[in-house]
Amino acid sequence: MVVFTEKKQIEKHLQGLKDKQYRIGFVPTMGALHQGHLSLVVKALEQNDYVVVSIFVNPTQFDNATDLKNYPRTLARDTELLATVSDAIIVYAPDVSDIYEVETKAEQFNFDGLEYEMEGRFRNGHFDGVGTIVKRLFEIVKPDHAYFGQKDFQQLAIIKKMVEKHQIPVAIHGCPILRETNGLALSSRNERLKPDYKKAAPFIYKTLKSAKKQFGTKSAKYVTEWVEKAFSNHDLLQLEYFIIADEKTLKPVIRKSKNKTYRAFIAVYADDIRLIDNIALN
Ligand code: PAJ
Repeated sequence: MVVFTEKKQIEKHLQGLKDKQYRIGFVPTMGALHQGHLSLVVKALEQNDYVVVSIFVNPTQFDNATDLKNYPRTLARDTELLATVSDAIIVYAPDVSDIYEVETKAEQFNFDGLEYEMEGRFRNGHFDGVGTIVKRLFEIVKPDHAYFGQKDFQQLAIIKKMVEKHQIPVAIHGCPILRETNGLALSSRNERLKPDYKKAAPFIYKTLKSAKKQFGTKSAKYVTEWVEKAFSNHDLLQLEYFIIADEKTLKPVIRKSKNKTYRAFIAVYADDIRLIDNIALN
C-alpha cells in the first residue's frame, strides 16, 4: 500500500497505472475509518485493479467550527487498517493547502434543487463544500468508478447530479448502509458518543423501521407526526428533522403515489453530536 500527501505525486503515480490500462476505483472519505467505509473499499476492490482512498476532513463542508475542530482525525490508525485490507490500495491524505491552494472556499453549485432539501436546509453551504471537494478529488484521481454510501443518500444524489451536469467521466456506485447489530448506522461521529447516548442512539433506526411499517397503511403526515411525538418524549435524543421524501427529487411527499419510491430521512442530536440515517420505504 502506498500513501501520498501531495497531489502532484499521486497524479504521477496514477498516470503510470492508467498507461498500463489498469482500472482505478475511488472511495473518498474524511477518515476515522470504520466497517462502513471498508465495505465501499471492498466493493471497489472487486470491480477495479487499484483503489484510491482519500482521507481528508474537508473544511468547506462544515458550517460549524466546533464540529470541524472535533471531527476525529486518526490517520495513522486509518492507514494501518487499510494496509491490512489490500496491497492494491493507494491512500491520498493531503493537507488543506494541497487542495485549497489559494483560499479555503467552496465553489457554488446548482444541483437542480436537490441541495435545498434536508441536509442543505439545516447545514448552510454544506453541499457546495461537498461538490467542491469531490469535484477536485475527481480531477486529481480521475477514477473509472467511485463509491459512495447510501448512509448519506442526499450526498450520493448530489454527486450523481454533479457528474451528469459537469459530464465527469466516472461511474458512481451507491452502496448499502452498514449498521451495528443494534441497528445504529456506523459513523465516524459514533466514536464521540458518551455511553448514555451510545445506548440511546439505536432508537433512531428502531423509529425508522417502525415508520416504514406504518407508511404501508398511513399517510406521510401521520407517520411524520408520530415520529416527532416519539422524539419529543425522549430524554436524550433531540430530533432535528424527519422527512419522508420522493427518492428522486428528495422533495417531501404530500400525497403518496403508487409508481414512486419513497425514503424516510432523519437527523438527530445526541448531546452535541449530529447523527443522520435513512430507510427505503417501498
Ligand atoms: P465520510 O463521512 O467519511 O464518508 C465517506 C463515505 O463512506 C461516504 O460515501 C459515506 O456515505 C460512506 N459511509 C459512511 N458511513 C457508512 C455506513 N454506515 N455504511 C455505508 N457507507 C457509509 O461522506 C463523506 O465522508 C464526505 O462528505 C466526502 C464524500 C468524503 C467529501 O468530503
